[in-house]
This record gives sequence, C-alpha cells and structure tokens, in this order.
Amino acid sequence: YSKLVSFPKDFLWGASTSAYQVEGAALEDGKGCSVQDVKEVIHGTADFKVASDFYHHYKEDIEMMAEMGLKTFRFSIAWTRLLPNGTGEVNQKGIDFYNNVIDTCIANGIEPFVTMYHFDLPAALDIKGGWSNPETIDAFVEFSKLMFENYGDRVKYWLTINEQNMMILHGAAIGTGTTTQKQLMQDNHHMLLAQAKAMKLCHEMCPNAKIGPAPNISAIYPSSCKPEDILAADTFSAIRNWLYLDMAVYGEYNATVWSYMREKDILPEIKAGDMEIMKEGKPDFIAFNYYCTQAVSACDKDESSSETTGDQQVAVGEAGVYKGVDNPYLPHTDFGWQIDPVGFRNTLREVYSRYRLPIIITENGLGAYDQLEEDGSIHDDYRINYLRQHIEQMQLAISDGVKLFGYCPWSAIDLISTHQGFAKRYGFIYVNRDDEDIKDLKRYKKDSFYWYQKVIKTNGEDL
Ligand code: BG6
Repeated sequence: YSKLVSFPKDFLWGASTSAYQVEGAALEDGKGCSVQDVKEVIHGTADFKVASDFYHHYKEDIEMMAEMGLKTFRFSIAWTRLLPNGTGEVNQKGIDFYNNVIDTCIANGIEPFVTMYHFDLPAALDIKGGWSNPETIDAFVEFSKLMFENYGDRVKYWLTINEQNMMILHGAAIGTGTTTQKQLMQDNHHMLLAQAKAMKLCHEMCPNAKIGPAPNISAIYPSSCKPEDILAADTFSAIRNWLYLDMAVYGEYNATVWSYMREKDILPEIKAGDMEIMKEGKPDFIAFNYYCTQAVSACDKDESSSETTGDQQVAVGEAGVYKGVDNPYLPHTDFGWQIDPVGFRNTLREVYSRYRLPIIITENGLGAYDQLEEDGSIHDDYRINYLRQHIEQMQLAISDGVKLFGYCPWSAIDLISTHQGFAKRYGFIYVNRDDEDIKDLKRYKKDSFYWYQKVIKTNGEDL
C-alpha cells in the first residue's frame, strides 16, 4: 500500500499472561489444586508452585506494564483460586486477589481483559471425569456467574476458554489423562456448550461487557497447488480452526468436520436442546492467538502422516486426512517453531471474511533464550524483530479492511512455558530465575520493553 491505514485511535495495545504460568502461590491462601499442579507432581514438569510469583508481585508488575504504556492487560483467573473444588465452597481470598489485580489495572489506566479459563481445570473436577462429565458444564457456569457477580462492574472484556482447539488436538492438555478421539469430541461438545452458556450469561448479567472465544488460529497452507493438497489443507483448516469458531459464532457444526467425525465414528452425542443453547451464545468479537501457519499435503490412508528430517519429527498429520510438512520458505525459532509474519495477515483476512466480527489478538510472540547482562540489561533484538514484523502485517491487514481492535503479545512478563520450562522466555519484562534456581525473582526491563513503549506511544507509527 502507498496509503497505509493507521491503527485506530483507541487501539488496545496490550500484553498477556495466564494464571498458572505466572502466579505461583499454587496452594496458598486457600487455592485448590488444578490439573497443572497435579501434572507437576506426576511428571515433575516445570515449577508452577512459584512460577514468576505474580501473586506477590502483581502491584509492581502492573505498574511496570503501565510504565510500558499498556492500554490493556490480558490475564486469566485461576478457577481453583475462586472455587478450590471447582464448584461449591467459595474462597474469599481468591476473590480478593483478582479484585486487587483488577483495581490495580484500573488505577494505572489499564483495561483488564480477563480469560476465564486457561488450561487449569480444577483437579477435583478432573477426578470426576473432567470435560467428559456434563456436570463440568454446570461447574463452569457457576464459576462464570461468580466472576460476573464479583468483577462484572469493572471488567468490560471477557474471554471464555483459551485455545480450546489446542486442548482437543493435544488431548492430554485438557486434563491429566489421555483419552480416545471419540471422547475428545464429546469433551469438545461439552466445552462448546459451557462456552455458549457463559456468553449468554455474560450478556444477561453484564450488559455493557463484551465476550468472545480465544482459540489458536492459523492459516493452513497447501504444500503445492495440486488439488488434492488444497483439499487436504481445507479439511485440516476446518478441523483445526473452523470447528471452534463456526460453533462460537453461528452455533453450528462445521459441515466438513461433521463428515470427518461421522466417517471416523467419533460423532459426539448431542442431547435435546444442546443446539439451541449453542445458538443462544453469541460472541461480540473474536479473539485469537497466532504463532505460525502450518503447511500440509494430501495423505493416503496407508502413508505416513508425519514429516521427519534426520531423526527429528518436524510436522505431524493424520493418515488419510492430511500430512503435516515443514514450510521451506519459513525460518525457525530456537525452539523449532516456524515464523510467518505474512501468514499473520493471511490469517487475519481469512478470519475476518468468514465471521465479520471485530478481532483482537490475544497472543503472538517469540519464545527465546534471553541473556541477563551484568548491568541488568537484556538485548532481545530478535524479539523486537519478530514483533515488528508481525505489527507491520497487522497494519497491512487493517489496511485490507480487517476490523482489528487490539494486540496482546505473549507475554507481558516472563513466565513458565507450557512444557519447555523457564528457559523459553516470551516477556517484555525479565524475571530473574531459571528452572533449577528460583533466585531473587527480580524484574528487569528488556530492550523490547523500551521498544514496545515507543510503539504504543506513537500508536504503531514508529516501529
Ligand atoms: C499458547 C498458550 O498456546 O502458547 C500459552 O495459550 C503458551 O499458554 C503459549 O504459553 C506459548 O507456548 P509454549 O509452549 O511455548 O509455552
């Protein structure tokens, strides 16, 4: 474009975190155990007990975010802090904590953007079957009501479920066990019902608030212009992306996914009234997390569906449906993820043209090794480059006509990666600890902190 359209005046420049990855205080002040806490005990995975200790540092952290200029802060509420057993007894100290977080945001001119549920299902519900048990839908509605009652006077933006699609595609993320694909589709149906009910309740209880889903969405590229590859990409895109958004927006199962489930004998059981509930839940916007696109080829039933380079598996697929392939045009991060800023624009255009709802990006960022220098600086120019390229593409998407109202990179401050520990950092703010040693947890501003501050100050003009 020779005439780029500027970012809207009230664009929500922000940043994100999630409760279990940042808060710590995992069993403090009455908090119950979540599936993430249990996983830590079973698998000895990263240390979520302390994480970045946001629970004790929230004031200082939010003040630093304000100094960076954030207009919004996306964080999640730990279900088990409010309802230690997932349902029933309420933990007042948990309610108070998020009151403090919300009030501190507002006092610092930051709009709180609340994710209701980010991977941390209460262990007490998991034991009773988790999302396979329809009672978890009622528990989620109870949890939603509690949040709307307590925070609805101040929180104007809500996100229902973070990356439901990733939880279904990578089954174990849902709870602590593994399960069949048929069961996952049933769990998915229950989660979609829970989401629809929460959206409806939000509109009833908080008429001035807005609510939307927060899946992880990526354009899916065919590996060539061979028609079979294009078909495979379309099928995988429906399975990965549109199943979730078609239901959230239209209250309907995506036809391609329905046929796929029928063929594999994994259709969910749909009870009388379910589809009416799905239709009644209407999002006000679409939020999505974007990291990278994915390339796929057609794949026969008896063909291997994953691509390997040397002895490393670089992409996975599903025999008879699609084969995941590495995109030769894209570079990789230190952690093997591909980087595709132009794909961000492709994805934004595709989502907007399918749903015509305003969009906010709730995650995008670079996981990398950072080096704390002796003088307390962190020179993360690689992160600045990554974010700059993605913001450029965002502006191009806005110029294409996409109604984008906010951008919240992952992450506001360093936190524990879902499965790669503390060495993989995403934050603008460095937290002084590593996987083995909690150290002093002191906060330092990375170069990207000052850079993003300038971006926000100039409303995206000076990148
Ligand atoms: C998203 C999640 O999938 O990606 C975050 O919503 C996560 O919780 C982020 O941290 C980055 O992934 P990872 O595996 O590097 O932590």
